[in-house]
Amino acid sequence: MTGKAELKLDGKTLTLPTVVGSENEVGIDVTNLRKETGAITLDPGYGNTGSCESAITFIDGEKGILRYRGYDIAELAEKSNFIETAYLLIYGELPDHVQLEEFSSLLTENQMLHEGMRFHFESFPPTAHPMAILSAMINAASSYHPNIIHKREERFPYHAARLMSQVRTIAAFSHRKAQGLPVIYPKSSLKYTANFLHMMFSHPGEDYELKPELIRALDLIFLLHADHEQNCSTSTVRMVASSRANLFASASAGVCALWGPLHGGANQAVLEMLEQIHDEGDDGSKFLAAVKDKTTDRRLMGFGHRVYKNFDPRALIIKEQCDKVLSQLHKSDPLLDIAKKLEQIALKDDYFVSRKLYPNVDFYSGIIMRAIGIPLDMFTVMFAIGRMPGWIANYKEVMEDPNSRISRPRQIYTGSTLRNYTPMEARG
Ligand code: ACO
Repeated sequence: MTGKAELKLDGKTLTLPTVVGSENEVGIDVTNLRKETGAITLDPGYGNTGSCESAITFIDGEKGILRYRGYDIAELAEKSNFIETAYLLIYGELPDHVQLEEFSSLLTENQMLHEGMRFHFESFPPTAHPMAILSAMINAASSYHPNIIHKREERFPYHAARLMSQVRTIAAFSHRKAQGLPVIYPKSSLKYTANFLHMMFSHPGEDYELKPELIRALDLIFLLHADHEQNCSTSTVRMVASSRANLFASASAGVCALWGPLHGGANQAVLEMLEQIHDEGDDGSKFLAAVKDKTTDRRLMGFGHRVYKNFDPRALIIKEQCDKVLSQLHKSDPLLDIAKKLEQIALKDDYFVSRKLYPNVDFYSGIIMRAIGIPLDMFTVMFAIGRMPGWIANYKEVMEDPNSRISRPRQIYTGSTLRNYTPMEARG
Protein backbone atom coordinates (compact mmCIF):
# COMPACT_ATOMS: atom_id res chain seq x y z
CA MET A 1 0.00 0.00 0.00
CA THR A 2 1.31 3.43 -0.92
CA GLY A 3 -1.83 5.37 0.02
CA LYS A 4 -2.13 8.41 2.18
CA ALA A 5 -4.82 9.07 4.75
CA GLU A 6 -6.91 12.21 4.76
CA LEU A 7 -8.27 13.73 7.93
CA LYS A 8 -10.95 16.42 7.87
CA LEU A 9 -11.07 18.61 10.95
CA ASP A 10 -13.05 21.85 11.22
CA GLY A 11 -13.23 22.17 7.44
CA LYS A 12 -9.49 21.73 6.99
CA THR A 13 -8.09 18.61 5.26
CA LEU A 14 -4.83 17.17 6.44
CA THR A 15 -2.96 14.54 4.46
CA LEU A 16 -1.24 11.98 6.64
CA PRO A 17 1.46 9.67 5.29
CA THR A 18 1.23 5.92 5.88
CA VAL A 19 3.98 3.61 7.02
CA VAL A 20 3.90 0.01 5.73
CA GLY A 21 5.70 -2.77 7.58
CA SER A 22 7.44 -5.79 6.06
CA GLU A 23 4.29 -7.88 6.61
CA ASN A 24 2.12 -5.13 5.04
CA GLU A 25 0.81 -3.79 8.32
CA VAL A 26 -0.30 -0.21 7.78
CA GLY A 27 0.19 2.63 10.21
CA ILE A 28 -1.05 6.19 9.77
CA ASP A 29 1.76 8.52 10.71
CA VAL A 30 0.34 11.24 12.97
CA THR A 31 3.70 12.75 13.93
CA ASN A 32 2.70 16.20 12.62
CA LEU A 33 -0.96 16.06 13.63
CA ARG A 34 -0.74 18.29 16.69
CA LYS A 35 1.65 20.74 15.06
CA GLU A 36 -0.70 21.21 12.10
CA THR A 37 -4.14 20.98 13.75
CA GLY A 38 -3.68 21.42 17.51
CA ALA A 39 -5.52 18.10 18.00
CA ILE A 40 -4.14 14.83 19.32
CA THR A 41 -5.28 11.20 18.93
CA LEU A 42 -7.00 9.54 21.89
CA ASP A 43 -6.68 5.75 22.25
CA PRO A 44 -7.07 4.48 25.83
CA GLY A 45 -5.28 1.14 26.25
CA TYR A 46 -3.43 1.83 22.94
CA GLY A 47 -5.46 -0.78 21.00
CA ASN A 48 -4.94 1.23 17.78
CA THR A 49 -1.65 2.90 18.49
CA GLY A 50 1.75 1.82 17.22
CA SER A 51 4.35 3.16 19.64
CA CYS A 52 7.38 2.26 17.52
CA GLU A 53 8.70 0.50 14.45
CA SER A 54 10.37 -2.75 15.47
CA ALA A 55 12.19 -5.58 13.66
CA ILE A 56 12.09 -8.10 16.52
CA THR A 57 8.74 -9.92 16.69
CA PHE A 58 5.79 -10.24 14.34
CA ILE A 59 2.28 -11.20 15.45
CA ASP A 60 -0.82 -11.64 13.32
CA GLY A 61 -3.52 -12.05 15.94
CA GLU A 62 -6.24 -12.95 13.44
CA LYS A 63 -4.22 -15.79 11.94
CA GLY A 64 -2.53 -16.92 15.18
CA ILE A 65 0.98 -16.19 13.88
CA LEU A 66 3.95 -15.44 16.13
CA ARG A 67 7.47 -15.08 14.73
CA TYR A 68 10.73 -14.09 16.36
CA ARG A 69 12.99 -12.31 13.83
CA GLY A 70 11.04 -14.02 11.02
CA TYR A 71 11.17 -17.56 12.48
CA ASP A 72 7.87 -19.23 13.31
CA ILE A 73 7.39 -19.93 17.01
CA ALA A 74 6.41 -23.58 16.40
CA GLU A 75 9.63 -24.23 14.46
CA LEU A 76 11.77 -22.57 17.14
CA ALA A 77 9.92 -24.53 19.84
CA GLU A 78 10.68 -27.78 18.04
CA LYS A 79 14.26 -27.16 16.88
CA SER A 80 15.85 -24.46 19.04
CA ASN A 81 16.34 -23.85 22.74
CA PHE A 82 15.98 -20.85 25.03
CA ILE A 83 19.59 -19.63 24.87
CA GLU A 84 19.89 -19.86 21.09
CA THR A 85 16.52 -18.11 20.76
CA ALA A 86 17.62 -15.43 23.22
CA TYR A 87 20.67 -14.75 21.04
CA LEU A 88 18.42 -14.57 17.97
CA LEU A 89 16.12 -12.04 19.62
CA ILE A 90 18.89 -9.84 20.98
CA TYR A 91 21.30 -9.89 18.03
CA GLY A 92 18.88 -10.48 15.13
CA GLU A 93 20.33 -13.70 13.63
CA LEU A 94 20.74 -17.29 14.73
CA PRO A 95 24.26 -17.68 16.16
CA ASP A 96 26.97 -19.81 14.54
CA HIS A 97 28.98 -22.23 16.75
CA VAL A 98 31.50 -19.61 17.84
CA GLN A 99 28.89 -16.95 18.61
CA LEU A 100 26.80 -19.40 20.64
CA GLU A 101 29.87 -20.57 22.54
CA GLU A 102 30.83 -16.97 23.35
CA PHE A 103 27.31 -16.10 24.43
CA SER A 104 27.08 -19.19 26.67
CA SER A 105 30.48 -18.40 28.20
CA LEU A 106 29.39 -14.83 28.96
CA LEU A 107 26.27 -16.18 30.68
CA THR A 108 28.36 -18.57 32.78
CA GLU A 109 30.95 -15.92 33.68
CA ASN A 110 28.20 -13.60 34.90
CA GLN A 111 26.06 -16.07 36.81
CA MET A 112 27.34 -15.22 40.31
CA LEU A 113 25.83 -12.33 42.21
CA HIS A 114 28.14 -9.93 44.01
CA GLU A 115 28.42 -11.42 47.49
CA GLY A 116 27.17 -8.12 48.94
CA MET A 117 23.82 -8.73 47.25
CA ARG A 118 23.21 -11.75 49.47
CA PHE A 119 22.56 -9.37 52.39
CA HIS A 120 19.75 -7.61 50.54
CA PHE A 121 17.78 -10.87 50.49
CA GLU A 122 17.90 -10.93 54.30
CA SER A 123 16.01 -7.65 54.60
CA PHE A 124 12.85 -8.83 52.81
CA PRO A 125 10.07 -10.14 55.06
CA PRO A 126 9.24 -13.86 54.65
CA THR A 127 5.91 -12.82 53.12
CA ALA A 128 7.56 -10.87 50.27
CA HIS A 129 6.30 -11.87 46.82
CA PRO A 130 9.22 -13.08 44.67
CA MET A 131 8.25 -10.56 41.94
CA ALA A 132 8.84 -7.72 44.43
CA ILE A 133 12.22 -9.23 45.32
CA LEU A 134 13.09 -9.77 41.65
CA SER A 135 12.33 -6.22 40.63
CA ALA A 136 14.20 -4.71 43.60
CA MET A 137 17.22 -6.98 43.18
CA ILE A 138 17.58 -6.40 39.44
CA ASN A 139 17.69 -2.68 40.11
CA ALA A 140 20.09 -3.18 43.04
CA ALA A 141 22.42 -5.24 40.81
CA SER A 142 23.24 -2.15 38.73
CA SER A 143 24.71 -0.47 41.81
CA TYR A 144 27.32 -3.26 42.06
CA HIS A 145 28.42 -2.73 38.46
CA PRO A 146 28.70 1.03 37.78
CA ASN A 147 29.66 0.32 34.16
CA ILE A 148 26.02 -0.59 33.58
CA ILE A 149 25.18 3.04 34.26
CA HIS A 150 28.23 4.80 32.81
CA LYS A 151 29.48 2.68 29.91
CA ARG A 152 26.28 1.03 28.93
CA GLU A 153 26.55 1.18 25.16
CA GLU A 154 30.08 -0.10 24.54
CA ARG A 155 29.73 -2.89 27.11
CA PHE A 156 26.22 -3.92 26.06
CA PRO A 157 26.97 -7.67 25.42
CA TYR A 158 28.34 -7.99 28.98
CA HIS A 159 25.42 -6.16 30.55
CA ALA A 160 22.90 -8.19 28.54
CA ALA A 161 24.55 -11.47 29.56
CA ARG A 162 24.85 -10.34 33.17
CA LEU A 163 21.16 -9.47 33.32
CA MET A 164 20.00 -12.70 31.68
CA SER A 165 22.24 -14.82 33.84
CA GLN A 166 21.69 -13.03 37.13
CA VAL A 167 17.91 -12.84 36.87
CA ARG A 168 17.94 -16.63 37.12
CA THR A 169 20.26 -16.60 40.15
CA ILE A 170 18.18 -13.90 41.88
CA ALA A 171 14.98 -15.85 41.20
CA ALA A 172 16.38 -19.06 42.68
CA PHE A 173 17.84 -17.25 45.71
CA SER A 174 14.50 -15.54 46.41
CA HIS A 175 12.76 -18.93 46.39
CA ARG A 176 15.35 -20.40 48.78
CA LYS A 177 15.05 -17.41 51.09
CA ALA A 178 11.21 -17.64 51.12
CA GLN A 179 11.47 -21.34 52.02
CA GLY A 180 14.04 -20.65 54.78
CA LEU A 181 16.59 -22.78 52.88
CA PRO A 182 20.31 -22.08 52.32
CA VAL A 183 21.08 -20.64 48.90
CA ILE A 184 22.65 -22.93 46.31
CA TYR A 185 25.29 -21.35 44.06
CA PRO A 186 25.21 -21.87 40.30
CA LYS A 187 27.36 -24.61 38.76
CA SER A 188 29.45 -23.66 35.72
CA SER A 189 29.15 -27.16 34.26
CA LEU A 190 25.39 -26.84 33.86
CA LYS A 191 23.48 -25.20 31.02
CA TYR A 192 21.10 -22.30 31.67
CA THR A 193 17.83 -24.06 32.52
CA ALA A 194 19.42 -27.07 34.26
CA ASN A 195 21.48 -24.67 36.36
CA PHE A 196 18.32 -22.86 37.42
CA LEU A 197 16.64 -26.11 38.52
CA HIS A 198 19.83 -27.03 40.40
CA MET A 199 19.79 -23.70 42.29
CA MET A 200 16.08 -24.06 43.05
CA PHE A 201 15.97 -27.65 44.25
CA SER A 202 19.41 -29.00 45.25
CA HIS A 203 20.45 -29.22 48.89
CA PRO A 204 23.91 -28.69 50.31
CA GLY A 205 25.57 -32.07 49.93
CA GLU A 206 22.84 -33.50 47.72
CA ASP A 207 22.30 -32.52 44.08
CA TYR A 208 18.78 -32.45 42.67
CA GLU A 209 18.19 -35.13 40.04
CA LEU A 210 18.05 -33.24 36.75
CA LYS A 211 15.45 -35.00 34.60
CA PRO A 212 15.93 -34.17 30.90
CA GLU A 213 12.16 -34.03 30.26
CA LEU A 214 11.69 -31.40 32.97
CA ILE A 215 14.67 -29.36 31.78
CA ARG A 216 13.23 -29.43 28.26
CA ALA A 217 9.74 -28.49 29.46
CA LEU A 218 10.94 -25.46 31.44
CA ASP A 219 13.32 -24.43 28.66
CA LEU A 220 10.35 -24.51 26.27
CA ILE A 221 8.28 -22.35 28.64
CA PHE A 222 11.14 -19.80 28.71
CA LEU A 223 11.42 -19.89 24.89
CA LEU A 224 7.68 -19.42 24.34
CA HIS A 225 7.67 -16.39 26.65
CA ALA A 226 10.85 -14.85 25.22
CA ASP A 227 9.17 -11.97 23.37
CA HIS A 228 5.73 -10.77 22.39
CA GLU A 229 6.13 -7.34 20.75
CA GLN A 230 4.60 -4.27 22.42
CA ASN A 231 2.77 -5.83 25.39
CA CYS A 232 2.39 -3.99 28.70
CA SER A 233 5.77 -4.94 30.22
CA THR A 234 7.82 -4.55 27.02
CA SER A 235 6.23 -1.16 26.37
CA THR A 236 7.18 -0.27 29.95
CA VAL A 237 10.78 -1.31 29.33
CA ARG A 238 10.88 0.78 26.15
CA MET A 239 9.26 3.74 27.89
CA VAL A 240 11.85 3.68 30.71
CA ALA A 241 14.68 3.11 28.20
CA SER A 242 13.51 6.13 26.21
CA SER A 243 14.60 8.36 29.10
CA ARG A 244 18.07 6.77 28.67
CA ALA A 245 17.77 4.89 31.96
CA ASN A 246 20.12 1.90 32.16
CA LEU A 247 19.24 -1.65 31.10
CA PHE A 248 18.78 -2.96 34.64
CA ALA A 249 16.49 -0.09 35.71
CA SER A 250 14.42 -0.60 32.55
CA ALA A 251 14.12 -4.37 33.10
CA SER A 252 13.24 -3.85 36.76
CA ALA A 253 10.30 -1.68 35.66
CA GLY A 254 9.31 -4.41 33.20
CA VAL A 255 9.10 -6.92 36.07
CA CYS A 256 6.68 -4.61 37.92
CA ALA A 257 4.43 -4.28 34.87
CA LEU A 258 4.51 -8.03 34.29
CA TRP A 259 3.40 -8.79 37.84
CA GLY A 260 -0.25 -7.71 37.32
CA PRO A 261 -2.89 -10.47 37.02
CA LEU A 262 -4.08 -9.19 33.63
CA HIS A 263 -0.56 -9.74 32.28
CA GLY A 264 2.15 -12.16 33.53
CA GLY A 265 0.44 -12.61 36.88
CA ALA A 266 -2.31 -14.51 35.03
CA ASN A 267 -0.35 -17.79 35.22
CA GLN A 268 -0.55 -17.73 39.02
CA ALA A 269 -4.20 -16.61 38.86
CA VAL A 270 -5.08 -19.53 36.52
CA LEU A 271 -3.77 -22.12 38.97
CA GLU A 272 -5.53 -20.42 41.88
CA MET A 273 -8.75 -20.47 39.86
CA LEU A 274 -8.36 -24.17 38.96
CA GLU A 275 -7.62 -25.05 42.60
CA GLN A 276 -10.70 -23.15 43.73
CA ILE A 277 -12.92 -24.93 41.18
CA HIS A 278 -11.45 -28.27 42.28
CA ASP A 279 -11.91 -27.54 46.01
CA GLU A 280 -15.54 -26.58 45.40
CA GLY A 281 -16.18 -29.86 43.59
CA ASP A 282 -17.32 -27.94 40.49
CA ASP A 283 -16.61 -29.37 37.02
CA GLY A 284 -16.19 -25.82 35.75
CA SER A 285 -19.77 -25.10 34.68
CA LYS A 286 -20.74 -23.18 37.85
CA PHE A 287 -17.59 -21.13 37.58
CA LEU A 288 -18.22 -20.29 33.92
CA ALA A 289 -21.76 -19.18 34.73
CA ALA A 290 -20.31 -16.74 37.29
CA VAL A 291 -17.78 -15.47 34.72
CA LYS A 292 -20.59 -14.71 32.27
CA ASP A 293 -22.60 -12.85 34.91
CA LYS A 294 -21.70 -9.25 34.11
CA THR A 295 -22.64 -8.07 37.61
CA THR A 296 -19.38 -9.67 38.84
CA ASP A 297 -15.91 -8.79 37.58
CA ARG A 298 -14.87 -12.44 37.45
CA ARG A 299 -12.83 -13.52 34.45
CA LEU A 300 -11.80 -16.87 33.11
CA MET A 301 -8.10 -16.42 33.77
CA GLY A 302 -5.79 -17.62 31.00
CA PHE A 303 -8.45 -16.79 28.41
CA GLY A 304 -8.56 -13.85 26.04
CA HIS A 305 -5.86 -11.71 24.54
CA ARG A 306 -5.65 -8.17 23.23
CA VAL A 307 -4.03 -9.32 20.00
CA TYR A 308 -4.98 -12.98 19.40
CA LYS A 309 -8.56 -13.20 18.16
CA ASN A 310 -8.39 -16.74 16.82
CA PHE A 311 -5.90 -18.75 18.86
CA ASP A 312 -2.65 -18.17 20.73
CA PRO A 313 -0.05 -20.40 19.00
CA ARG A 314 1.92 -20.64 22.25
CA ALA A 315 -1.11 -22.14 24.04
CA LEU A 316 -1.30 -25.00 21.51
CA ILE A 317 2.37 -25.88 22.03
CA ILE A 318 2.11 -25.63 25.82
CA LYS A 319 -1.01 -27.77 25.98
CA GLU A 320 0.73 -30.52 24.01
CA GLN A 321 3.81 -30.22 26.24
CA CYS A 322 1.61 -30.43 29.32
CA ASP A 323 0.22 -33.82 28.29
CA LYS A 324 3.72 -35.00 27.37
CA VAL A 325 5.34 -34.02 30.68
CA LEU A 326 2.60 -35.57 32.80
CA SER A 327 2.76 -38.82 30.85
CA GLN A 328 6.60 -38.89 31.01
CA LEU A 329 6.37 -38.46 34.77
CA HIS A 330 3.54 -41.04 34.94
CA LYS A 331 1.48 -38.41 36.74
CA SER A 332 -2.05 -37.19 36.37
CA ASP A 333 -3.34 -33.87 37.61
CA PRO A 334 -7.04 -33.23 38.30
CA LEU A 335 -6.41 -29.55 37.52
CA LEU A 336 -5.46 -30.48 33.95
CA ASP A 337 -8.78 -32.29 33.59
CA ILE A 338 -10.63 -29.20 34.87
CA ALA A 339 -8.66 -26.92 32.53
CA LYS A 340 -9.51 -29.11 29.52
CA LYS A 341 -13.16 -29.21 30.53
CA LEU A 342 -13.27 -25.41 30.92
CA GLU A 343 -11.69 -24.97 27.51
CA GLN A 344 -14.11 -27.45 25.93
CA ILE A 345 -17.19 -25.69 27.36
CA ALA A 346 -15.90 -22.16 26.71
CA LEU A 347 -15.01 -22.82 23.08
CA LYS A 348 -18.64 -23.78 22.40
CA ASP A 349 -20.21 -21.03 24.49
CA ASP A 350 -21.52 -17.97 22.70
CA TYR A 351 -20.18 -15.61 25.40
CA PHE A 352 -16.58 -16.63 24.63
CA VAL A 353 -17.05 -17.30 20.91
CA SER A 354 -18.65 -13.92 20.21
CA ARG A 355 -15.90 -12.09 22.08
CA LYS A 356 -13.19 -14.19 20.40
CA LEU A 357 -11.80 -15.41 23.72
CA TYR A 358 -9.41 -18.39 23.46
CA PRO A 359 -6.86 -19.96 25.83
CA ASN A 360 -3.69 -17.89 26.04
CA VAL A 361 -0.14 -18.95 26.93
CA ASP A 362 -0.93 -18.90 30.66
CA PHE A 363 -3.82 -21.35 30.58
CA TYR A 364 -1.72 -24.54 30.62
CA SER A 365 1.79 -23.35 31.57
CA GLY A 366 1.03 -23.45 35.32
CA ILE A 367 0.20 -27.16 35.20
CA ILE A 368 3.65 -27.91 33.77
CA MET A 369 5.32 -25.69 36.36
CA ARG A 370 3.37 -27.45 39.12
CA ALA A 371 4.57 -30.83 37.79
CA ILE A 372 8.16 -29.55 37.90
CA GLY A 373 7.65 -28.53 41.55
CA ILE A 374 7.81 -24.76 41.05
CA PRO A 375 5.75 -23.06 43.76
CA LEU A 376 2.74 -20.99 42.77
CA ASP A 377 4.17 -17.60 43.71
CA MET A 378 7.20 -18.27 41.48
CA PHE A 379 5.12 -18.78 38.30
CA THR A 380 5.26 -15.15 37.21
CA VAL A 381 8.98 -15.13 37.97
CA MET A 382 9.38 -17.92 35.37
CA PHE A 383 7.64 -15.65 32.88
CA ALA A 384 10.05 -12.82 33.77
CA ILE A 385 13.11 -15.06 33.26
CA GLY A 386 11.72 -16.11 29.88
CA ARG A 387 10.83 -12.56 28.81
CA MET A 388 14.26 -11.13 29.63
CA PRO A 389 15.77 -11.58 26.11
CA GLY A 390 12.76 -9.80 24.60
CA TRP A 391 13.14 -6.88 26.98
CA ILE A 392 16.88 -6.73 26.28
CA ALA A 393 16.29 -6.80 22.51
CA ASN A 394 13.71 -4.01 22.78
CA TYR A 395 16.00 -1.95 25.02
CA LYS A 396 18.79 -2.36 22.45
CA GLU A 397 16.47 -1.28 19.64
CA VAL A 398 15.53 1.91 21.51
CA MET A 399 19.19 2.71 22.26
CA GLU A 400 20.29 2.13 18.67
CA ASP A 401 17.50 4.13 17.05
CA PRO A 402 18.94 7.50 16.02
CA ASN A 403 15.40 8.94 15.91
CA SER A 404 14.41 7.70 19.36
CA ARG A 405 12.79 10.40 21.53
CA ILE A 406 11.71 10.26 25.13
CA SER A 407 8.24 8.66 25.35
CA ARG A 408 5.85 11.31 26.49
CA PRO A 409 2.18 10.76 25.65
CA ARG A 410 -0.34 13.59 25.77
CA GLN A 411 -3.75 13.60 27.45
CA ILE A 412 -7.18 15.18 27.16
CA TYR A 413 -7.59 17.10 30.38
CA THR A 414 -11.03 16.66 32.02
CA GLY A 415 -10.50 18.36 35.41
CA SER A 416 -11.56 21.80 36.68
CA THR A 417 -10.82 24.89 34.68
CA LEU A 418 -8.98 27.77 36.40
CA ARG A 419 -10.35 28.64 39.84
CA ASN A 420 -9.15 30.75 42.76
CA TYR A 421 -7.51 29.34 45.89
CA THR A 422 -10.08 28.99 48.73
CA PRO A 423 -8.69 29.87 52.17
CA MET A 424 -9.17 27.17 54.84
CA GLU A 425 -11.73 29.17 56.85
CA ALA A 426 -13.91 29.59 53.75
CA ARG A 427 -14.01 25.86 52.94
CA GLY A 428 -17.26 24.11 53.92
N1 ACO B 1 -13.12 -13.93 30.92
C1 ACO B 1 -14.35 -13.40 30.75
N2 ACO B 1 -14.61 -12.34 29.97
C2 ACO B 1 -13.56 -11.78 29.33
C3 ACO B 1 -12.25 -12.28 29.46
C4 ACO B 1 -12.04 -13.39 30.28
N3 ACO B 1 -10.82 -13.91 30.45
N4 ACO B 1 -11.41 -11.52 28.71
C5 ACO B 1 -12.17 -10.58 28.14
N5 ACO B 1 -13.48 -10.75 28.49
C6 ACO B 1 -14.62 -9.97 28.03
C7 ACO B 1 -14.70 -8.60 28.69
O1 ACO B 1 -15.46 -8.64 29.88
C8 ACO B 1 -15.33 -7.77 27.60
O2 ACO B 1 -16.70 -8.10 27.58
P1 ACO B 1 -17.79 -6.93 27.19
O3 ACO B 1 -17.48 -6.55 25.78
O4 ACO B 1 -19.11 -7.60 27.38
O5 ACO B 1 -17.55 -5.81 28.18
C9 ACO B 1 -14.73 -8.34 26.31
O6 ACO B 1 -14.41 -9.71 26.63
C10 ACO B 1 -13.46 -7.63 25.84
O7 ACO B 1 -12.54 -7.61 26.92
P2 ACO B 1 -11.45 -6.49 27.18
O8 ACO B 1 -11.11 -6.44 28.62
O9 ACO B 1 -11.89 -5.20 26.52
O10 ACO B 1 -10.24 -7.06 26.34
P3 ACO B 1 -8.75 -6.54 26.44
O11 ACO B 1 -8.15 -6.73 25.11
O12 ACO B 1 -8.69 -5.17 27.02
O13 ACO B 1 -8.09 -7.50 27.52
C11 ACO B 1 -7.04 -9.37 28.53
C12 ACO B 1 -7.28 -8.58 27.21
C13 ACO B 1 -6.53 -8.41 29.62
C14 ACO B 1 -5.97 -10.41 28.27
C15 ACO B 1 -8.38 -10.04 28.95
O14 ACO B 1 -8.81 -10.94 27.96
C16 ACO B 1 -8.28 -10.73 30.30
O15 ACO B 1 -8.46 -10.09 31.34
N6 ACO B 1 -7.98 -12.06 30.31
C17 ACO B 1 -7.80 -12.77 31.57
C18 ACO B 1 -6.42 -12.47 32.13
C19 ACO B 1 -5.32 -13.17 31.35
O16 ACO B 1 -5.40 -14.36 31.04
N7 ACO B 1 -4.25 -12.40 31.05
C20 ACO B 1 -3.08 -12.94 30.35
C21 ACO B 1 -2.99 -12.32 28.99
S1 ACO B 1 -1.71 -13.07 28.06
C22 ACO B 1 -0.30 -12.45 28.72
O17 ACO B 1 -0.21 -11.38 29.24
C23 ACO B 1 0.82 -13.31 28.64
